[in-house]
Amino acid sequence: MQLIITNDYEELSERAAKIIIDTVKANPYAVLGLATGTTPLGLYKRLVADHEKNKTSYKHIRAVNLDEYKGLPSDHSQSYAYFMRKNLFGQIDIDLENTYIENGTAKDEMAECDRYDKLLGAMRRDIQLLGLGSNGHIAFNEPYTSFDSKTHVVDLAESTVRDNARLFNNADEVPKQAYTMGLSSIMQSKRILILASGANKAEAVRGAIMGEVTEAVPASILQRHGDCILIADKEAARLL
Ligand code: F6R
Repeated sequence: MQLIITNDYEELSERAAKIIIDTVKANPYAVLGLATGTTPLGLYKRLVADHEKNKTSYKHIRAVNLDEYKGLPSDHSQSYAYFMRKNLFGQIDIDLENTYIENGTAKDEMAECDRYDKLLGAMRRDIQLLGLGSNGHIAFNEPYTSFDSKTHVVDLAESTVRDNARLFNNADEVPKQAYTMGLSSIMQSKRILILASGANKAEAVRGAIMGEVTEAVPASILQRHGDCILIADKEAARLL
């Protein structure tokens, strides 16, 4: 795993944006695996600014997201589909038809997982962006998820519900289940870019990069990927 430590969140976002922009420029038909959450916001702002200023085009890009809350329709303001439209897709020239995410309100859970796995099989990501949970999760693969997992529905860990409550009015409103891309599908990406910012990620960063490869720390699986870059700011890297 390649490790880049930055002085702060701004520099982290800048470095990450450059990697994504270079990927898009090198292959205008690339498949991007994208993440939601607070961490990629600075990166997405820079992609939008670059699109406006330098006209980097996403016209032929396809984007596949990691996860979606179960039960939330795509027009719900807390859904990840909505997050992506608001923070990125609505501000660049990507065709919304080329953006993919699990359907949080699918009637048949198994059929939805199956649909997404087929889609992932047909669209290998050129680069997969990841955030890191404070408990070491990637996407919503919580500790002890099988390394062989494919798309599935998870019960979110209490710590994840607590972490995400800041984005809702209160913890009761946070959905307790989500659809998530599985760890084996994440590992199939040609390249992985994982971002971690802030002191509350320090333990997870240490587990991901230095610890034993174990299902107790889902992000530790990334040590087995041949082309993975971790960008951490100083605070997130303070235990290394
Ligand atoms: C989001 C996702 C999650 C987040 C992680 C970190 O699509 O899959 O794994 O990346 O929970 O979230 P933030 O960035 O909000 O700290």
